[in-house]
Amino acid sequence: MAFTARWGILATGWIAEKFTIDLLIDPATRGTADVAHVVAAVASSSGEAQARSFATKVKAPHDTVCYGGYEDLVKDKNVDIVYIASPHSHHFAHALLALNAGKHVVCEKPITVNARQAEILYKTAKKNNLFFLDAVWTRYFPLSVQIRQIITSGEVGEILRVTADTSMGEEMDDLWKRQKRRKVNLDLAGGALLEIGIYSITWIFQTLYHTLPASKRQPPNKIMSHMVKYPETGVDEDTTFIVSFPTSSPSGSSGRGSHGVGMTAFPLATDPDQRGTAGPSVRIQGTKGEIQVLGMPFQPDRYKVVPLRDGDATMSVREVLCPFPAGGHGMYYEADEAARCVREGKLESETMPWDESLLIMKVMDDIREQGGLKYPDAIESTDLH
Ligand SMILES: NC(=O)c1ccc[n+]([C@@H]2O[C@H](COP(=O)([O-])OP(=O)(O)OC[C@H]3O[C@@H](n4cnc5c(N)ncnc54)[C@H](OP(=O)(O)O)[C@@H]3O)[C@@H](O)[C@H]2O)c1
Repeated sequence: MAFTARWGILATGWIAEKFTIDLLIDPATRGTADVAHVVAAVASSSGEAQARSFATKVKAPHDTVCYGGYEDLVKDKNVDIVYIASPHSHHFAHALLALNAGKHVVCEKPITVNARQAEILYKTAKKNNLFFLDAVWTRYFPLSVQIRQIITSGEVGEILRVTADTSMGEEMDDLWKRQKRRKVNLDLAGGALLEIGIYSITWIFQTLYHTLPASKRQPPNKIMSHMVKYPETGVDEDTTFIVSFPTSSPSGSSGRGSHGVGMTAFPLATDPDQRGTAGPSVRIQGTKGEIQVLGMPFQPDRYKVVPLRDGDATMSVREVLCPFPAGGHGMYYEADEAARCVREGKLESETMPWDESLLIMKVMDDIREQGGLKYPDAIESTDLH
């Protein structure tokens, strides 16, 4: 019989809606039979009516409990896992609230504002014997799993370089002056790096670092970056970085090392005409060929394996489509992973181990420091009072 995870949804904004709709999709539509999900409760800091309106909008079952505050949600005995969907400026406080109430946690990306906060969350999860997942959803897609397998199989040779561009093509003044969007608000830890650049880093890490056996993984030995700020709020609007590793995948030991070039921007676009004419958003380049990821780096739906031309006339490009079943967003894959880990009593997922998640936060700290991007003390702090 399938294990059923009972979820509590903390916050009712844009991504909470997408995630909850995905949770409510029948797992059988994606071939999942061993785990299932129920939305046990929803909480909004804007009041119970907002929680109720959210539950109605996502078509949650009528018995879903709606709370007008997060404190009530984390106390609910019918909730196993709390999904944190507040702005990342507040993940530290809200994740701690859930962990201290004895709940497993799936926390939206980036898990915190900085590595110091993330470290405290992981220590607290360990101390309280609770599962904690850094919800970078792309990692759990079958597409990502397949690409990691292609790398470890050696089919494209030694991976020496990865490029990844996550740029949205949005007008900064429109985002801020007209829409007052969270993602360009300094007080809510806005900026391209933390909001979307994390996906470029995700691709660099899941290809150059995660594909190595755990014993051979080594942290980056050099990080260089360039950051352009939006003068109206001080957040980064355009950031490029090079992350170098002493190792290369899949063997780790050729001595050549490898590097990832990550790009992220609000005003520039990965896919300017939204028809894919700019080519792949991620290129994973090896000595025998490359893997090209098509679609935005956070939600790609196909990839190509392109062998290096070496005079072989039979060489052919392989294109693999990875559509999202049942019209879903693709967030159900991370939910399934969380449910399986909780069922098995695991504290962390092998797809996104705590030490790797922490390392990624350290890389982002480093890039922010180089660019002089500091958030207000109230949200950089590890002291909640
Ligand atoms: N995985 C993805 O693809 C993806 C996509 C977008 C965003 N995200 C991440 O998910 C998080 C939420 O993003 P979002 O786009 O859903 O944001 P959003 O639409 O602004 O929603 C955030 C929600 O958090 C709650 N909240 C609590 N304290 C708040 C505060 N001080 N200011 C504003 N809202 C506050 C509010 O819900 P209540 O009023 O109900 O409490 C609000 O609706 C961010 O960390 C973001 O990086 C992930």
